[in-house]
Amino acid sequence: MAIIGNPKYEERVKEHLAKYETTRSAVMPLLYIAQEEYGWVNAEGISEVAQILNLDPTQVKSIAGFYTMYSEKPKGKYWLHVCTDLPCALNGADDFYAWLKEELGVADGETSADGMFTVEHVMCLAACDQAPMLQCNFRYIENLDQDKMRALLAKWRQEAAQSANGTG
Ligand code: FES
Repeated sequence: MAIIGNPKYEERVKEHLAKYETTRSAVMPLLYIAQEEYGWVNAEGISEVAQILNLDPTQVKSIAGFYTMYSEKPKGKYWLHVCTDLPCALNGADDFYAWLKEELGVADGETSADGMFTVEHVMCLAACDQAPMLQCNFRYIENLDQDKMRALLAKWRQEAAQSANGTG
């Protein structure tokens, strides 16, 4: 596993580097690639991004540490950000999130025992009229209820199993 020399990322890295006047400006999109490759922004990812951009790893690490969309600790394959801010809470988000944590057997910020799901509550994601809602790996999923969420969890588990078997 690596970013540098990995054909999976070659084109994307080139595109990001070409997009900006100074290469260092590509640090954030490259950190997303690092997170995709390693599942979180770890030392290897930081070191590779620094190498690509000719930056000091401490500079890259400080940027990764500043933004909440980068995880500095291992997380599940599916990273669920549930909005529990007031407008969503008024529309059932607190109850929904309490149920989801119980369903997965985790507390806020924890990863399920099977390593599949990390759950975190977040502030407003600007989809207040679609509550309860969440982001799964930064994709919006809205108007949730327990039945829809159970179906999604089952679908993601199935996708992960297929990808582990090489059939997905
Ligand atoms: S309060 Fe939840 S999306 Fe705005």
